[in-house]
Amino acid sequence: MKSPYYESDAALSQYLLLHYGTEADIAPDGFVPKKARSFPLRCVTDTLARQAIPENARALDVGCAVGRSSFELARCCGEVIGLDFSQRFIAAARRLRKSGGVEVDLIDQGDLKRRVRLAVPSDIDSSRVRFEQGDAQDLRKDLGTFDVVLAANLLCRLRNPSRFLDRLPKLVRPGGTLVITTPSTWKQIHTPRANWIGGVTRDGREVRTLDGLKDFLEPAFSLRRCLDLPLVIREHERKYEYIIAEATVWRRAGRT
Ligand SMILES: C[S@@+](CC[C@H](N)C(=O)[O-])C[C@H]1O[C@@H](n2cnc3c(N)ncnc32)[C@H](O)[C@@H]1O
Repeated sequence: MKSPYYESDAALSQYLLLHYGTEADIAPDGFVPKKARSFPLRCVTDTLARQAIPENARALDVGCAVGRSSFELARCCGEVIGLDFSQRFIAAARRLRKSGGVEVDLIDQGDLKRRVRLAVPSDIDSSRVRFEQGDAQDLRKDLGTFDVVLAANLLCRLRNPSRFLDRLPKLVRPGGTLVITTPSTWKQIHTPRANWIGGVTRDGREVRTLDGLKDFLEPAFSLRRCLDLPLVIREHERKYEYIIAEATVWRRAGRT
């Protein structure tokens, strides 16, 4: 089922800003702490820093939104697919790939808006990246296999996250890297409680998302690292959402 939110003007401008905005665009005067800036960039740089990525690696960015992490993956991977359910997000990502930039109206207050131009960093080879619309819970069978799979802040937006998690052992090549980040915002409106990966008590035991992920992913994957990745989403000039995503880095078992 399509989320009307991720097809809306508000979401499009918020995610374009989160992905491509400069500090001046997002929050002048340093209101956003340094460690919470450039989240889609850090999803790639901070998590893959210690991973061995083969030459000409293939990467998949599931729930890529407007595509910044996909472009960042192209710095170390020869082929990147960015996939998202939102048609508007994918259309914007394709526009950015084609023309290198887009103009967007940011809400300052009420009806008052400010037009800014946002751009893909010019030193990225965008020809390595393509974007497609698709459902993480029903990925097309001929997607192939990948050296790197990134799913940033996707899990708790899925109706049935297990359908995505179950596909991962077939999607990630032996020795490959899986990065999952999540704020664990488990809500019935997105995911029926019975399908929550964490944030529940089962058989008298508190199950957090990390516990649930281990249950799903081990032993096909081994956990390499956990790190906190803060981010800030700007709603308007005086309202921001501060999130601390939990990032986990996993290695697919087997020989490379
Ligand atoms: C919270 S946003 C995160 C976007 C991006 N990864 C980031 O970190 O900025 C969740 C994204 O998942 C996408 N999404 C939601 N349900 C999806 C599904 N079933 N398949 C693929 N993408 C989905 C939304 O359109 C949205 O772009």
